[in-house]
Amino acid sequence: MIATSLKLPPKKLACLTSLAALCLWPLSASAQATNLVTNGTFDSGVADPWWGAASTSTDNPADKSLAVTDGRLCVTMTAGGKNPWDVSLGLSGLALEANKYYRIQFSASADVDRTIKFKTGFGDKPYTDYFIKTIPISTTPKDFDFTYLNLRNDPMTQFQFQIGSMAGVVCVDNISITEVAAPVLQPYVTPSVTGQPLKSRPNVVKFGTAVDTPIFLSSPLHDQIVAGEFNMITPANSMKMNLIQPTQGVFDFTDTDALVTWANQNGLEFRGHPLVWHTQAPGWLTGGTFTKDQMVAIMYAHIDALMGRYKLPYWDVVNEAVDEANLAQGYRSTFWYNTIGPEFIDLAFQRARMDDPNAKLFYNDYNIEQLGNPKADRVFQMVQDLKNRGIPIDGVGLQGHYFVTPDGGTSGLPDMQAIRDNMKRYADLGLEVHITECDLRIGKPLDDNKLALQTAFYRDLLQVCVDAPNCSHFTVWGLSDIDSWVPSTFKDYDYAHLWDSNFMPKPGYQEMTKVMAKYNADGTPVGGGSTGASTDSGGCSFQPAKAPRSAAASLLLLGVFGAGLARRRKRARAS
Ligand code: XIL
Repeated sequence: MIATSLKLPPKKLACLTSLAALCLWPLSASAQATNLVTNGTFDSGVADPWWGAASTSTDNPADKSLAVTDGRLCVTMTAGGKNPWDVSLGLSGLALEANKYYRIQFSASADVDRTIKFKTGFGDKPYTDYFIKTIPISTTPKDFDFTYLNLRNDPMTQFQFQIGSMAGVVCVDNISITEVAAPVLQPYVTPSVTGQPLKSRPNVVKFGTAVDTPIFLSSPLHDQIVAGEFNMITPANSMKMNLIQPTQGVFDFTDTDALVTWANQNGLEFRGHPLVWHTQAPGWLTGGTFTKDQMVAIMYAHIDALMGRYKLPYWDVVNEAVDEANLAQGYRSTFWYNTIGPEFIDLAFQRARMDDPNAKLFYNDYNIEQLGNPKADRVFQMVQDLKNRGIPIDGVGLQGHYFVTPDGGTSGLPDMQAIRDNMKRYADLGLEVHITECDLRIGKPLDDNKLALQTAFYRDLLQVCVDAPNCSHFTVWGLSDIDSWVPSTFKDYDYAHLWDSNFMPKPGYQEMTKVMAKYNADGTPVGGGSTGASTDSGGCSFQPAKAPRSAAASLLLLGVFGAGLARRRKRARAS
């Protein structure tokens, strides 16, 4: 324990956390709570039983030495490797139980500003991180305090700090892990200026958000907002192949089970994401050598296992199979494509249809929102071909990732009319479109102009989806800036989401609720009048078309969208 550090009782310490939301928790850590960490204060002057590890890989070599300095445990790295996990500081053999809440507290600092991670995870193979958080630390020791729901029985849990990726010194102190009672929150009240949460007009558009496991397990406020404002969730990571099938044939459904159960309990739809993707794939797959037949069998086994366990309304069956770099080839070069050939897409959809005839099957990708964009046009052509050949596909997920550049430039903003036109051509094919991963990242620093662009973006893209009869779902890729995939993926960007890092709603959220307030619950416009929706799109509107449709196209549309044509919307068939 560092001599100058505050020794506050647990209740006060909780409110020193950077996560103000956690202060809302009635902390119930009782005086008797046992600290599972032995030697978390380093008062004895020794590091033991804490251990350090450093990567020995020639690509990203690291080294470390541990010492207790001024009552804190400090790790000195003359090389930090490339990744946070290239240097770790850990404690083995903690006994954690499933479905109990644990409170993790510590203080951390570094010789310069840097980002580290802390986590709990299996100590044995298959190695799994089951609660992992990224935190910024600086020269001033900062207290951290997280309570999370542990989902796994694990008598040999490892608690770890991942501190690599650059040389330097990182110090930790006052580390404790204690079991605490379940948190309780006040009932949710929507902050919407309209008095109605986003989810209140499901006949117009249903709202979804990606939910990542760590925030889901550690922030009741996050979960409360998601349940209060959204109609659907998509797992941000838990269904990805590296996490759900970490070893060939060995599935870990724990995290997804918890999310699905929670979604059911709260009346939320669940989007399966993704079944076949080249990213976040397990090492046994990417590092293995498989014949075409073996690869098909692996793909089928994965689809069967997930679709067999979870009966969901929507699945992203194939994700991101086309890229700009390989437009001439038509498909992205991935281990799926390279081993099986382009028919991996046909096979995936056919298998998915066989596994669950009731699920709607989607192809999902980014930069495919706008007609005229070369990748969007290539994907349309591919999907049209799938449809023409009778491959079972029900819709296309338009991810919807956009940006404002650091200098405020708008090159990363969409042409809304081109999106309307794109949605229309999918409607003409008889396909649904969903906005599946929307966000608008802002180049740092944030300013009022950039925020205004973001606000208008969310409002206008929602209106485009509302106006398109084949667009029933608008999903954002994460609720708030505190839990964003953006800063670690695009280093000059942040602030992408509808809630800020204190879980306060942004203007974009309010504008979206205003769009929704233009409609009655049955999907008709309030007052029967104009909704402000653009009608000059040639549109994805089934109001009388300006140009007559061909008889065949009209029949197709009637067949697909049938009874819903008279109303604005589409919900009846979408759920
Ligand atoms: C992202 C997750 O949000 C991150 O946490 C993870 O590190 C990388 O993947 N397109 C997709 C999503 O289809 O699955 C990706 O999710 C974002 C881009």
